[in-house]
Amino acid sequence: MKSTRELLEADWRHAWHPFTDQSLWEGVDSPVIVRGEGVWLEDSEGRRYYDGNSSIWTNIHGHSHPALVEALREQAGTLCHSSYLGLANARASELAMTLSKSFSGGALQRVFFSDNGSTALEVALRMELQWRWMRGEKERRKVVAFENAYHGDTLGAASLGGVGRFFEAIAGLGVEVEQVGGLAGLLAVDGDDVAAVVIEPVIQGVNEMTPWPTGMLKSVRAWCDEHGAHLICDEVMTGFGRTGALFACELEEVVPDYLCLAKGLTGGTMPLAATLTREVIYEDFKGPGKTLYYGHSYTANPLGCAVALASLELCQRDGFLLSVREKGELMGALLKQLSSHPSVKAVRRVGMVSGIELAGDGSSRGGKALCKRLRERGLLTRPILDTVVWMPPLASTRAELQAMGHIFQEALSQELSSSLS
Ligand SMILES: Cc1ncc(COP(=O)(O)O)c(C=O)c1O
Repeated sequence: MKSTRELLEADWRHAWHPFTDQSLWEGVDSPVIVRGEGVWLEDSEGRRYYDGNSSIWTNIHGHSHPALVEALREQAGTLCHSSYLGLANARASELAMTLSKSFSGGALQRVFFSDNGSTALEVALRMELQWRWMRGEKERRKVVAFENAYHGDTLGAASLGGVGRFFEAIAGLGVEVEQVGGLAGLLAVDGDDVAAVVIEPVIQGVNEMTPWPTGMLKSVRAWCDEHGAHLICDEVMTGFGRTGALFACELEEVVPDYLCLAKGLTGGTMPLAATLTREVIYEDFKGPGKTLYYGHSYTANPLGCAVALASLELCQRDGFLLSVREKGELMGALLKQLSSHPSVKAVRRVGMVSGIELAGDGSSRGGKALCKRLRERGLLTRPILDTVVWMPPLASTRAELQAMGHIFQEALSQELSSSLS
């Protein structure tokens, strides 16, 4: 293998990273990750780090979980890919059935595969807008989204996003969207031209890990029913046990019209997404002139589907969700200890999703500085402005969570002493 220096130089010279000011990236040493095991990531210098961010919210069962590796190995030896155009594939058939049965007793029977969280949303939008158009409801083109929401980066998904700093360069492009602030904002909307409402159920991730008030999702569902709008639930971050339920919608017993899944679908191993919808919507796409002209070359990739099946099986084992809830409680206790620290403004958590908001100036300087200190102590995570995300793999043991909590304590104390000196 090339040396760390050579690898970094190749990166600085040729690669372009997402959500990154490259002027601050080039020439600055950063870990080159070469291995993963359980909750650990290891860099090219042999240093080990806790994956405190679940590799951007994807990892569920830990890195290189034997059951997932075996599923991938077996599938790779059989079939890596075949087109989903005019052909079925064995793993995709099984996964479509398993996924639809896994959510709310099969209420969403139809599964459309794509590649990532953004495309899961893109698919829901394309289905919804075409469905309205086919029914002659030309006036219903608008999608209501919430302020500070994040639904991905493809143009349609990005136009739903309410995070100004990400999307100002493309303002006005994409689908027609009305941004509203919370339930009060939604209640003030005249529903006649609304096709759908889109929401991250129970907790908004990119909005600095902000939980919705209890009952929010139920109220949004009720508003949609009253106004003839569809509900799109974006469970790209919350799905597959993160919140203590297999899907966050289940916490409020809400069934959306579209359920968007990605990230944890493959346990954090392969890019794969799924958009689930109701049979009554699907039925309207049958017949001449009603085709959904949407798809990608790697749609329903068998490797992704095989590993998703193996991951779902682990999620559905007895005790899995209970252990997430119990470990979430432990995280809550550890966060409570952190919240008494003078540099901490607030802590927020749902299940094993949490954020530690620093008493910063909102510029993300404090968040970045804390993440640097955490990394030096062997814990990797990311800031969102001044909120530092703590979202470890669901497979983290109690001892590992306690060790991570301890690293946060130490790094915060060092942060404070250096800001006082
Ligand atoms: C709620 C939500 N939706 C959509 C996305 C986009 O997913 P992806 O990055 O896989 O395109 C994200 C990514 O963080 C997300 O948190």
